[in-house]
Amino acid sequence: MAKASGATNNYSTLSSSLAVGLDEPDRNLALELVRVTEAAAIAGGHWVGFGDKNKADGAAVDAMRSFLSTVHFNGVVVIGEGEKDEAPMLFNGERVGDGSGPEVDVAVDPIDGTRLTALGINNALAVLAVAERGSMFDPSAVFYMEKLVTGPEAADMVDLRLPVKQNLHLIAKAKGVKVNQLNVMILDRDRHRPLVEEIRAAGARTKFIMDGDVAGAIAAAREGTGVDALMGIGGTPEGIVAACAIKTLGGVIQGRLWPTSDEEKQKALDAGHDLDRVLSTNDLVTSDNCYFAATGITDGDLLQGVRYKKDKVYTQSIVMRSKSGTVRFVDAEHHASKWEGYARQV
Ligand code: FBP
Repeated sequence: MAKASGATNNYSTLSSSLAVGLDEPDRNLALELVRVTEAAAIAGGHWVGFGDKNKADGAAVDAMRSFLSTVHFNGVVVIGEGEKDEAPMLFNGERVGDGSGPEVDVAVDPIDGTRLTALGINNALAVLAVAERGSMFDPSAVFYMEKLVTGPEAADMVDLRLPVKQNLHLIAKAKGVKVNQLNVMILDRDRHRPLVEEIRAAGARTKFIMDGDVAGAIAAAREGTGVDALMGIGGTPEGIVAACAIKTLGGVIQGRLWPTSDEEKQKALDAGHDLDRVLSTNDLVTSDNCYFAATGITDGDLLQGVRYKKDKVYTQSIVMRSKSGTVRFVDAEHHASKWEGYARQV
C-alpha cells in the first residue's frame, strides 16, 4: 500500500535477508547513528545563541548528511525536516547511508529545538531514528497531532479519547501517587490554554517547555525525570521519532492528527486518514526493531549540550535499541582539530 494512503506501511515485504542485516546480534546500529547525531550537534552547536535558527539548522543538516553517508545501511528519509520553516532540508525520499546494508526508514531531526539553539535555551537535541523499511507512519498529510505520552505504569490504561482529568487519575493510580503530585509537560502555546486549565482543574501541575517535544516525550516515558506525562499538540514527525524511542523505553505515545486548515483536513481525508483515529506507538512505528540516537546541543534535563574547549569538543548522547531494550549514555571527547571544518562560517 502506498504510504500516501494514510495507513501504516506494509512491511511484510521486508525480505528475510534484510531483516538479518538489522538483526545481526553483534551489531547495534544505534552505535553508528550516534556518530551522526554527535556531528550534527557539534556543527549546529556552533550557532547556539547567535539568533539564527536557519543557519544552525543548515549546519546540523550538512553534518548529519555527511556522516549518514558512512553508515552501513540502505536508508530512505521518510521523516525529513525543514519543510515547516523552509529550512535547509534532508528531504523526504532522500537516500542515505552507504547503500550496502539493511533497508531502513530513517527519521531525521538534525535539531529538535531550532529556536532553543538560536536563543541559547535548554533542551535542544540532534536526533536520528531508524526502523525497518516501511514501518514508519507517513506524516506528510498533517503537520500537527495531539499527543499523550506516559511511562510504562499507565501505558495500557490511558486513552486520548478520555477526558484529561480521567487520564490523569489513571496515571496517578498506576503510579501510586496523588493527582496533585503529577507533572504534565506541555509546549507553551496559546492553543494549549484550555488544556492547561483542564490539567490544573484536575489538580495536576503543568511544566512548560518552549520547544522540543521529542525530549519532552522521552522525559514523560522515562523513570525518574519528574515528568509523568506529556500532553498537547506538537509536530507529527516529532511524534514518530518519539515513538521510536518509546519502543525501547516502554510507555506509550498516543496521537491524533490535528489539521490546522480545511485544506489540510481535505488532504488528509483524501489520503485515507481517519481524523478521529487514535494512533498508538505501534501505529506510528510498526517495527519492533528500532534504533534511536540523540545528542545534546544545549544543556538539558536529559543530556548536556556540546562543550567546546581549546583542544577538545565534548558531547553527551543517548542511544537506544528497542530489540534489546538497551539505553546507553555516551560521553564522547573529540579532537577539536578534526571538527574545524564544521565551525561557524560568518
Ligand atoms: P523545530 O526545532 O523544527 O522548530 O521544532 C521544535 C518543536 O517545538 C517540536 O519539538 C514540536 O513538535 C514542534 O516544534 C511544535 O510546533 P510549533 O512550534 O509550531 O508549535
